[in-house]
Amino acid sequence: MVAAVRVHKVGGPEVLTYEEIELAAPGQGQVRVRQHASGVNFIDTYFRMGMYSSPVGLPFIVGNEAAGEVIAVGPGVTDLKVGDRVAYVVALGCYAAERVVPADRVIKLPPNISYEQAAAMMLKGMTAEYLLRRTFKVEKGMNVLMHAAAGGVGLILCQWANYLGANVIGTVGSKDKAALAKANGCHHTILYREEDFVARVKEITGGKLCDVVYDGIGNATFPGSLDCIRPLGMFVSFGSSSGQIDAFNINILQTKGSLFATRPTLNTYAAKREDLLAIANDLFDVVGKGAVKIPINQKYALRDVAKAHRDLEGRATTGSSILIP
Ligand SMILES: NC(=O)c1ccc[n+]([C@@H]2O[C@H](COP(=O)([O-])OP(=O)(O)OC[C@H]3O[C@@H](n4cnc5c(N)ncnc54)[C@H](OP(=O)(O)O)[C@@H]3O)[C@@H](O)[C@H]2O)c1
Repeated sequence: MVAAVRVHKVGGPEVLTYEEIELAAPGQGQVRVRQHASGVNFIDTYFRMGMYSSPVGLPFIVGNEAAGEVIAVGPGVTDLKVGDRVAYVVALGCYAAERVVPADRVIKLPPNISYEQAAAMMLKGMTAEYLLRRTFKVEKGMNVLMHAAAGGVGLILCQWANYLGANVIGTVGSKDKAALAKANGCHHTILYREEDFVARVKEITGGKLCDVVYDGIGNATFPGSLDCIRPLGMFVSFGSSSGQIDAFNINILQTKGSLFATRPTLNTYAAKREDLLAIANDLFDVVGKGAVKIPINQKYALRDVAKAHRDLEGRATTGSSILIP
């Protein structure tokens, strides 16, 4: 039996149930991993509340990111062995002391990346990689806007975009978060709960606006985000922490300057094994050379997971949160 956090009925943080479960031996192409840490992500709350439906039905084990050591190898697995240090982003199953995972989704950790760092960065950091290097290629001198700049994905985006030479503008929910974003590569911060963020972006960029806006907030920042983008610029809507964007008339993209808009997800960008490894290696490279640091600002015991979700949804966290089994 192993400890795990399951959802039997979708709902608020109170439906997160810490319990002992049976775990099967790894099957064809699978490995069993003793997890040292699991990442907490906003997407976990979407599954918990039923906004995203569980591919395995109910009950399901929550969590989409973790790191640990391989403790058993199933038939057909040739490139992993017992004792390997690994991490992965896999839909569901990560809030547990041990789990079985498909070997083709597993990434071996370089020695300089700890389990806790890996659990805090695989989903958020690989997301930052594809957003900045693939969805839209950020280059030196570009103006970029990140919403929730002091959040988990936000702090990584700010550091990485700064490293690429961009002029980084970030929205944040408090003065403390502004200071943290600034310490992590954000050149300009906007207190979007008090200030008109569109007016401030115009002012900061001298009217040129942004080449790209990375928006993980969704409903609350739409359509304002579109007014922050220069003609032919890119709107990247990659999340909905304030709720999903309602259906809109696509002609709005024409009236606001022939804009491009996309709603990407890591699953698509990392679907092929070669892309998964390339994205992970890029992340290991920037973290390895210290260009991007992974701030783990909240650590919880696995059994305290409901508090972790309350804090995340209550805007009380910064950087990454992890759970320790
Ligand atoms: N598409 C992908 O591939 C992908 C992958 C990973 C994450 N994501 C998305 O990226 C976003 C950030 O994820 P994360 O895990 O790093 O979370 P996070 O940014 O650490 O936490 C969410 C932050 O959003 C801000 N926020 C604004 N309005 C909010 C509201 N009504 N309720 C709660 N928070 C609100 C808060 O920051 P302030 O107080 O500063 O406003 C809060 O701290 C999420 O939307 C997530 O779904 C997408």
